[in-house]
Amino acid sequence: MNVSVAEPTLLIRREKRPGRRFLRHLFKAIAMEPPLRDAIWILLYLLPAPIRWKALWGATKMAQYLVGVLAAADQASREGVEAISVIEFGVASGEGLRLLEKHAEAVEKATGVRIAVYGFDTGSGLPAPIGDYRDHPDVWQPGEFQMDYSSLAAKLTSRTRLVLGNVKTTVPQFVAEGAAPRVGFISFDLDFYSSTREALKVLSLPGKHTLSRVFLYFDDINNYWSHSYAGERLAIREFNEANESIKIDRWFDVNLWRPFQEQQPRLRQMFIAHDLEAIKKSRVQ
Ligand SMILES: C[S@@+](CC[C@H](N)C(=O)[O-])C[C@H]1O[C@@H](n2cnc3c(N)ncnc32)[C@H](O)[C@@H]1O
Repeated sequence: MNVSVAEPTLLIRREKRPGRRFLRHLFKAIAMEPPLRDAIWILLYLLPAPIRWKALWGATKMAQYLVGVLAAADQASREGVEAISVIEFGVASGEGLRLLEKHAEAVEKATGVRIAVYGFDTGSGLPAPIGDYRDHPDVWQPGEFQMDYSSLAAKLTSRTRLVLGNVKTTVPQFVAEGAAPRVGFISFDLDFYSSTREALKVLSLPGKHTLSRVFLYFDDINNYWSHSYAGERLAIREFNEANESIKIDRWFDVNLWRPFQEQQPRLRQMFIAHDLEAIKKSRVQ
């Protein structure tokens, strides 16, 4: 009887030189004790230190974006992928997008993985809400967060593309075009449940182009008014209910071994979308 074994479609590179891990942990354990750690944090924040150190210590603005982009580039290297896309859903004035662009540039230099940046927004602030409690009318109102398009566009580099329009239309278009490299990191900052639900389709529409693990940041899940029946938390829950083979779960070890973990609450807002079908077909090299 002939037994055919399906070829794995995804070869995962195993981390080399595990012996170095012990020295790394020893150094971290010493450096993480106060007051040494405060002095190190200030130096890392002010000086042009290696980007992995800045990410580990949270010594930069919007460290959650740096941590996510770096994890995506490392995942790309494990998968043998040379270029990725990183996305911010909800751009408004562009403060976050410009930092995402800056972090992408630094991570590209450090890892050799090419990184394209995408910012999705209506360009005219929050759209009409769904009309019930799920879009939190107690917190947001339509038209908030206007964008000054020409001023923002003038500040962005050629690495970044602004995709204007409602994500309900632009996300299916983006996936259908298939022109962007595999998506590796996404920040969701669209405020509304209804908008987040549409944006999440970038992970599941037929023809979607992602790494087998996509690192995610959700901006509005840890407020006193957040709960699982509205907003981004509801969008995540419904995504998982609707998709058998892609599951979004907390990024469980994101905070481990970080010297300032108690001062980085944003890291508790990071998740990973696991593509179970792709993972099923993968093998370590
Ligand atoms: C809180 S602001 C984003 C702030 C930005 N991330 C920053 O760091 O400065 C939310 C943005 O989401 C955008 N937005 C919400 N729903 C949208 C939708 N359905 N399609 C496109 N953009 C949407 C709004 O236009 C608004 O600019």
